[in-house]
Amino acid sequence: MPATPTTDLGDEVRAALGASGAVGVTARQLAARLDRAPEHVAATLGILARRGDVLRMGRGLYVLRDFEHLDRVDDFVDPREYVERFERENGVALGTIAGPITFRANEDLPVHRWWPYVQGYSADFVRSVLEAEAVPRGASVLDPFAGSGTTLVEARRHGARGLGTELLAPAALAARVKTGFDLDPTALAKVADRARIRAQRAPAGPLPFLRETRRQFDPSHRRDLTRLRDALPPEGTPVSDAVRVAFGRILVPSSRLHRSPCLGYDRRAERARPPAFELFDRAVAEMRADLVGLRDAADRWGPPATVRTEDARTAAWPSGSVALAVTSPPYVNGMDYVMNYKIDLAWLGYARSYADLAAIRRAQVACDNLPRRETVAYRGLVDLPDPWLAGILERIRGNVARQGSYRRDDVHAVVHRYFADLVPVLRRVREALRPGGRFVLVVGDSLLAGTYVPGDLLTARIGASLGYRVLSVDVARRRRSGQRRSFVLRESVVTLERPRADA
Ligand SMILES: C[S@@+](CC[C@H](N)C(=O)[O-])C[C@H]1O[C@@H](n2cnc3c(N)ncnc32)[C@H](O)[C@@H]1O
Repeated sequence: MPATPTTDLGDEVRAALGASGAVGVTARQLAARLDRAPEHVAATLGILARRGDVLRMGRGLYVLRDFEHLDRVDDFVDPREYVERFERENGVALGTIAGPITFRANEDLPVHRWWPYVQGYSADFVRSVLEAEAVPRGASVLDPFAGSGTTLVEARRHGARGLGTELLAPAALAARVKTGFDLDPTALAKVADRARIRAQRAPAGPLPFLRETRRQFDPSHRRDLTRLRDALPPEGTPVSDAVRVAFGRILVPSSRLHRSPCLGYDRRAERARPPAFELFDRAVAEMRADLVGLRDAADRWGPPATVRTEDARTAAWPSGSVALAVTSPPYVNGMDYVMNYKIDLAWLGYARSYADLAAIRRAQVACDNLPRRETVAYRGLVDLPDPWLAGILERIRGNVARQGSYRRDDVHAVVHRYFADLVPVLRRVREALRPGGRFVLVVGDSLLAGTYVPGDLLTARIGASLGYRVLSVDVARRRRSGQRRSFVLRESVVTLERPRADA
């Protein structure tokens, strides 16, 4: 069948290209992200390129034409100006901290490696915060955006009780399992063995709803993964949840995909992949070994963690019950977690249709792929969580209007909603903290539609307006902007405190 690109696909391709910024992306990578046939995506890119919406940069990389123009826009406010203004208005000068902060450092660490979550931060970082804050044994440590549980694992190892909310069900499951240190390693191995034996005797099962499944997995992996999935014990007990995490863990390694950090086809697609059953056995063996290793320090563990698959914006914790909160929220216009974890959502049965995926995305803190109807209430420049946003959103809106062809005309509203989404989380965490308790956030700044957005400083300022004391903003890492490679962005650690005497 010849490819017949539809307007719908055109919109999807433009959206995904926009999310890739000015670095460029190949047709195959886009196809994996969109779960569409690569030939349809390539044909659509061809049409968009002939229309002048899209540019081919060589080496098979495509960018939205907007980015070519925006790359030349240099009327944005310089980051230094914001830093100086922040120092003047908020009385805090930017500092720096050392040490690895990204998840990469966790990839080989016991327990953390059970569900590598590229968006996570390093265990070392969390440990250093727990130590610096001298969190006492048995005290509660909260992470409202718990991801796969880096904070909660380290809290328990430290002797504290981890509390967390996370909307992405596979990540919440992983966090629950990773903090279940008391799981009997022999029981895990037995239940996993039984599931594998049942699977090896069973016929292949139905494929998940994702359109690209046949392309993502070769026939033998597809067959064995459906057999394994159907043989898994039902979710809900520590041991069955752990076996499900082992299954979730092998999905991407069984496929032609990788996350780097976005989900895309692996260039080394034709390298040999171990059979799914072997990958599963290895994942279980690793978990088993880590559980045995953990036992040496069992006398120092804190109480079991509580992980709720819940929206951090509406979650309530008992007032004044938390000693410390540590988190890394999604970044402004950053990762579409649903797109990036759709394989796990679909295969583990947390999403059964594209409508389910869309519903999860709507509940997440705003990202660039939010449907337009979700930003309607945020298009005006009123009720802004911080006065700095007026100028920033105005500039984004102006740049987008000047371009005319930007993929969405409501980028400023997405950014507005992003900060509006953070407000209830900051408010609820403040309420949960005991007086004098601290909220440590790892936050990045961004360059969007030719406009610089100091996400870290804005988060600190919004915190101040909600009654926190801003203790520090320390730069932990520099990174390059996806829109303009020469532009250096930062990732900062923002430390807020609930004052001892509440105003
Ligand atoms: C940067 S990641 C956190 C990673 C975590 N610190 C770790 O090391 O594993 C941000 C997380 O926030 C979650 N998230 C986004 N919106 C949310 C919401 N409204 N409520 C709860 N979690 C949300 C995303 O699913 C994502 O897992």
